[in-house]
Amino acid sequence: MDHTDDLNLAYGATVASTVADVLRSRRTNLQVKPDDEIARADIELLIELATWAPNHKRTWPWRFTVLQGSARARFGEALASAAQQVSTIAPDKRSKLPTKYLRSPVVLLVWTHVSSDPVVAREDRDATAAAVQNILIAATGLGMASYWGSLPEVLWDGAREFAGQDSDADPVALIYLGWPIGKPLAPPRGPADTTWLTQ
Ligand SMILES: Cc1cc2nc3c(=O)[nH]c(=O)nc-3n(C[C@H](O)[C@H](O)[C@H](O)COP(=O)(O)O)c2cc1C
Repeated sequence: MDHTDDLNLAYGATVASTVADVLRSRRTNLQVKPDDEIARADIELLIELATWAPNHKRTWPWRFTVLQGSARARFGEALASAAQQVSTIAPDKRSKLPTKYLRSPVVLLVWTHVSSDPVVAREDRDATAAAVQNILIAATGLGMASYWGSLPEVLWDGAREFAGQDSDADPVALIYLGWPIGKPLAPPRGPADTTWLTQ
C-alpha cells in the first residue's frame, strides 16, 4: 500500500478545510488602527499573490498603487479637488475625502488595463477582480482586515492623475488594509441559485 497517497489525501483535506475557513471568515472590515503599519514585505506578498489569478490570454492586466503615510492624505486632497468640478458628488461627501483614506494604514489601488478589444477588456477586468479577491483572501489568512471599496467614476481621472496611471487604466478596487481591532458580523448568504443539468 502506498502511504504517500494517504498522506497527500490527508494533507489535501486539511488545506481544503483551511481554505474554506479563510474564504468564509473574510469580511469587509474597516475596524482597524489607522496607523498600525503593515510591513512592506507583507504588502509585497499580497501583490505577488494577486498575480496568481487566472488571466485569459495572459495579458497580465493588473496594476497596483500602494498608498501609505502622508500619501493617503495627498490622495484624499487630490480627489476632493477633483470632486469640486463635479456636481454629482454631494458637498458632505466631498468634505470627507481629505481624511477618508486615513482610516487604514494602507490603501491599495488596483487598476486594470483596458484593452481596445471589448472582449479582452471585459475578461481582463474579470481577471483583475480575481486578483483583488486573492489579495482579500491572502490578507485574511495573514490576520489582516480588508475592505474592497469602489471609487465613483467621476473621480477616476483625478485618481489616475494622482497615481500616474494612463487613461487606459480603470480602477477596479480601492482596498483598505490594516490590523483588525474588531470584526463585523457576516452578512448571511442565502442558498446559491444553482441549476444542475446532468443529462
Ligand atoms: C466591486 C465591489 C465594490 C464594492 N464597493 C464597496 C464600497 O464602495 N463600499 C462598501 O462599503 N463596500 C463595498 N464593497 C463590499 C461589499 O459591500 C461587501 O462585500 C458586502 O457587503 C458583503 O460583505 P462581506 O464582504 O463582509 O461578505 C464592494 C464589493 C465589491 C465586490
